[in-house]
Amino acid sequence: MKPIKSVLILLFISSFTTLFAQEREFSDLLQNIDAREKVSLNGLWDIIIDPLENGYYNHRLQPMDNGYFKNAKMQSPSDLIEYNFDTSDQIMVPGDWNTQMEKLYYYEGTVWYKKDFNYTAKTNELVYLYFEAVNYEAIVYLNGERIGTHTGGYTPFQFEVTDKLKEGDNFVVVKVDNKRKRENVPTVNQDWWNYGGITRSVHLISTPKTHISDYSIQLAKGSTTNIQGWVTVENGSDGDNVEISIPELRKNVKSVVKNGKASFSIKAKPTLWEPKNPKLYEVTIKTGTDEITDTIGFRTVSTQGSKILLNGKEIFLKGISIHEEAPFKTGRVTSKEECRILLQWAKELGCNYIRLAHYPHSETMVREAEKMGFMIWSEIPVYWTILFDNKDTYANAKNQLTEMISRDKNRAAILMWSVANETPEGEARLDFLTNLANEARKLDNTRLITAALDTQSEGEGGKMIEDPLGKAVDVIGINHYCGWYVDKPQKCSSVKWASAYDKPMIMSEVGGGALYGLHGSKNERWTEEYQAEVYRTNIEMMRNIEFLSGLSPWILMDFRSSRRPLKRIQEDFNRKGLISEQGMKKQAFYILRDYYLKENN
Ligand code: GCU
Repeated sequence: MKPIKSVLILLFISSFTTLFAQEREFSDLLQNIDAREKVSLNGLWDIIIDPLENGYYNHRLQPMDNGYFKNAKMQSPSDLIEYNFDTSDQIMVPGDWNTQMEKLYYYEGTVWYKKDFNYTAKTNELVYLYFEAVNYEAIVYLNGERIGTHTGGYTPFQFEVTDKLKEGDNFVVVKVDNKRKRENVPTVNQDWWNYGGITRSVHLISTPKTHISDYSIQLAKGSTTNIQGWVTVENGSDGDNVEISIPELRKNVKSVVKNGKASFSIKAKPTLWEPKNPKLYEVTIKTGTDEITDTIGFRTVSTQGSKILLNGKEIFLKGISIHEEAPFKTGRVTSKEECRILLQWAKELGCNYIRLAHYPHSETMVREAEKMGFMIWSEIPVYWTILFDNKDTYANAKNQLTEMISRDKNRAAILMWSVANETPEGEARLDFLTNLANEARKLDNTRLITAALDTQSEGEGGKMIEDPLGKAVDVIGINHYCGWYVDKPQKCSSVKWASAYDKPMIMSEVGGGALYGLHGSKNERWTEEYQAEVYRTNIEMMRNIEFLSGLSPWILMDFRSSRRPLKRIQEDFNRKGLISEQGMKKQAFYILRDYYLKENN
């Protein structure tokens, strides 16, 4: 009989989640915005830096009606208005503020963003204001009116603003706040820079009043010949026709809308997506008023004991972990070119898989990786010691999970949803993460659920994997830094592993730091030789793990972190990259490359 406390925790979580989820199964995000008619609001935005949130609260700390979101202008010389966007600083969107302005390098707090734009209404249209990501909390205003909020720095959100737009001049104001709070996801400590701002693109998306809002088109679980899916039609009526065609497969099926959704299944023999042949098909969805085309791959993924099967065949995941840190300029990645540079380096490394850590990366990164044939691990920032018994924290995590899966559910390259990284064992944590894992399965039963653990214990047979969370996931990720945080590198080759689970294990993190260009003996920390030795001996260790089905060493490129102040070595960078942030390859890069190119082919 489950102890009363956990039953109470479960009741609490379920009561809140049902409240939170009542209005939706998937988030009502427009699917595939790339293919939609849109106006970009990227570029220079006016900003006001507001550490005291003076533009939001009055001196009694009550929210004001006439805050900075009003973008007020002096009407007469005696008017008192103590802010003016038009004479204030400017900053680029998309982008973080920390690397764009020296004075904002360490800044965590509120920054007000304002953008003017011109709009001409079209008949029979709906307009959505769509943000690809804002870190961390966003309050959005249009023409001085509050239209909504969003929490979480790495997933998209939108507002339908048609009737709030004016013909001609309009302005949007966003109060962005990246203050770290204990109840947040992630919480107050993280080993990556807390880049603040409107970090990804902003769009005004125009759709017909009745339009295709969302769809899911994938092979049914365990089938390579049955493409199943649904299409939601916003403002559609029951009986409306929906047509789904895949010309290259000579497939064209019709379905009808019922309760806003049209479901269908297509018997077909698609060429299956796989790293060596990342085949994508053009899929077009048509209704009486709207049409959208996407490029979609079809593949199955499953496990068999400790094996991961792609399209029914065992596959070994030769990977690398990646942060969304831009090469060369550093700061948040903001362009397709930067995504391609990172992915090209992973290709040179001989990878067929990437772990996008520790949060959903941009849709551009996921789509580019899919085109290049990378299998993907996608994760929400349930990182280290968040508040597992806090219901708001759970709802927040669940919301980020829902948005991540909603945005990328049609990406064949994504094989695994990760619900957590390095979380401490405990009852509340187990309930929290088990619920999240089940939620992910409810939203998408075609992919594998995983989490990165660092709870392995010292057993007779060496390292023992027996974390109870292992029950709730399909694939067990293990973060273990032999030769860096534990033991000397030379010790690692003889380390043995055992697991309480007959499930695949991925070494989701392994590695050590080095400053590019620093040389010395293999026992000298921070030298390339030391890092290379860590890789050499850990590869030997992993060769002996029977149930190992892949790895994603930490990490492709050095990345900024406020936990790394060591002068002359780290300089605010985590130096565990195989490549420096200026693109210089360290010795260990070639150790891992040779392992990938020579073995596991
Ligand atoms: C952890 C963690 C990473 C971190 C890494 C490190 O395992 O998951 O986010 O950067 O270790 O210490 O370098």
